[in-house]
Amino acid sequence: MDVLHCIPALAVAMIVLGATPPENLSVLEPTSAPATSIRDFFWMVVAIVGGILVVVGGALVYCIVRFRAREGDTAEPAQIYGSRPLEVAWTLAPALVVFMLFLIVLRSVAEVRLNQPPPHALEVKTIGHQFWWEFDYPELGFRTANEMHVPTSDPSTARPIFLRLRSADVIHSFWVPRLSGKTDLVPGRDNKMWFQADHEDIYFGQCAEYCGAQHANMMIRVIAEPLERFEAWCAEQRQQAQDVPAVQAGRDIFLKNSCANCHTIRGTPAAGTFGPDLTHLHSRQTLAAGVIANNPENLRRWIANPETFKPGCKMPALRLSEENIARVAQYLDTLD
Ligand code: CUA
Repeated sequence: MDVLHCIPALAVAMIVLGATPPENLSVLEPTSAPATSIRDFFWMVVAIVGGILVVVGGALVYCIVRFRAREGDTAEPAQIYGSRPLEVAWTLAPALVVFMLFLIVLRSVAEVRLNQPPPHALEVKTIGHQFWWEFDYPELGFRTANEMHVPTSDPSTARPIFLRLRSADVIHSFWVPRLSGKTDLVPGRDNKMWFQADHEDIYFGQCAEYCGAQHANMMIRVIAEPLERFEAWCAEQRQQAQDVPAVQAGRDIFLKNSCANCHTIRGTPAAGTFGPDLTHLHSRQTLAAGVIANNPENLRRWIANPETFKPGCKMPALRLSEENIARVAQYLDTLD
């Protein structure tokens, strides 16, 4: 049995055993207005087409049973040309159903799409790169990568998040199923979307448009937290990078090698924009767009050879000595 054939069996086993996958990507468990509209729309369509299935399937089964050939029954059935009222009915009824679905689509699209930020929205410029996400908070004056923090809404105050989506290279698609539908990031074009997180949680997402070798490892985390924690996070992110004298050697190696051409560390001369901003790398949970946990060992192995974790990614192994790799990793690990 090959791997593909194991997947359904594995999924069934997980459901039977009550195991939940660690990352909830279910469109059926929305916690944001646009995602809720999409879920409701989905169930409404399922109900309508399910109703049609029952009526048509029921009529079919009834006719098969009721009018089947019986033993000894040799007479020719009545030969009927057709029925105008029936023809009109089964043309009009589906047309009405389609028109109704069309109206529901219009309503859902209006709920999901916004071209202008709603009042009091937090704007996040979201830029897709091969193979990571850049999150720029223009009103707050900093940018980060792969893990977007947002404040949760509460019943008295809505805190919508408005994304302006762009691509730095090829087409990507931003998809955090529990918060909203997918929206493509197209080079040279500004797309927009919005969501609001009604509950504190970490919302997982994925790039949803094939964009190259590491498309599947272009993951998103939206960390929705109460306003005070979000503001504390912003205050930290606004700071320049810490300068810890004990890791000066690692900092020098970082700045002297091509690391600084691709990465920004605010407060140092490193100002590259091809790779993620590392000013507060240590405050992130994961490395490599969600592929591995952010810990000193993974960081060291990632710098030594990114291909180990993400074959085909754009970050090269710089072939530093083991000692220098450890120094750079120690330095990056102080960037709280
Ligand atoms: Cu980016 Cu797929």
